[in-house]
Amino acid sequence: MRVIKRIAVLTSGGDAPGMNAAIRAVTRCALAQDWDVLGVRRGYAGLVEGEVEPLTGRTVSNIMQRGGTLLGSARCPEFETEDTRRKALYWLQQNRVDALVVIGGNGSQTGALALAEMGVPVVGVASTIDNDLAGSEITIGVDTALNIALEAIDRLKTTASSHQRAFLIEVMGRKCGYLALMAGLAGGAEIVVIPERETTPEEVARQLRAAYERGKKHALAVVAEGAVHNGGKLDAWFREHSAQIGFDLRTTTLGHVQRGGTPTAFDRLLGTRLGAGAVAALMRGEQGVLVGLNEGRVATTPLKEVAGVRKVIDPELFRLASVLAQ
Ligand code: F6P
Repeated sequence: MRVIKRIAVLTSGGDAPGMNAAIRAVTRCALAQDWDVLGVRRGYAGLVEGEVEPLTGRTVSNIMQRGGTLLGSARCPEFETEDTRRKALYWLQQNRVDALVVIGGNGSQTGALALAEMGVPVVGVASTIDNDLAGSEITIGVDTALNIALEAIDRLKTTASSHQRAFLIEVMGRKCGYLALMAGLAGGAEIVVIPERETTPEEVARQLRAAYERGKKHALAVVAEGAVHNGGKLDAWFREHSAQIGFDLRTTTLGHVQRGGTPTAFDRLLGTRLGAGAVAALMRGEQGVLVGLNEGRVATTPLKEVAGVRKVIDPELFRLASVLAQ
């Protein structure tokens, strides 16, 4: 088994509340093994440029309660090319880095797999607010994002009831409707529109109208940004057809508000457990794996089974959302 003396850690892709707890746990658990820890700035972009700083117990002090990532993050499309990955490999070898921890979502773990296949000992940590990453039933940042969406929904429902208006709220989720479905379930939406189950604007209007006909004072649609009929498209359709529809609709797009702010207790603990799990995996000699939560336990899954694989939405939960809307 390879002896580890120095590791590097990076956060990549969209940031997620709880990433700082993961950085802290990776750093302090690694220091406890007498390993050196290098923090890579700006994800893979910083790795290619060699933008690093040594992390100590003090550098990661007082960061757990902060959203975002101490290390910064970036999307790095260039990392899809072998040339760019070779630069990263060269830098890691020149700086005698024995293992790399990649905290991020699907794109980041695809990059991690590519490095693992070039011989770099890599361990991924499951982190994205979209919760679309296979290999972890829930990922770092989801809980905070969901709570932010719910707070917005609760607020919208009060003003919706005062005015008897329909509201549409668009939440994040580029290709995945997890946040929209869960926010719809927990927030009591009349209809949820997600990329996995496309819905026509006519159907959205029908469900909102049906809510009034059942005597509700408000009517709410929760829509994922990645749906074909996303917030913008539905808003435009409702404006165009306002004369026939017979009720007002107001649209709110939550956007990056969901990714900012203080991580919930759940995300701090998840970041902590998965970060510690990454170091534990390296101590066991595991590499080329993602550390995630499976059946409530910290577990590893080969990156090969994770990269590019999209988690499937539970159809039963989708059905339940529509039953409960009644
Ligand atoms: O990190 C996931 C995510 O927040 C998606 O929900 C969203 O589509 C995307 O990132 C936005 O990316 P960016 O911050 O690069 O605009």
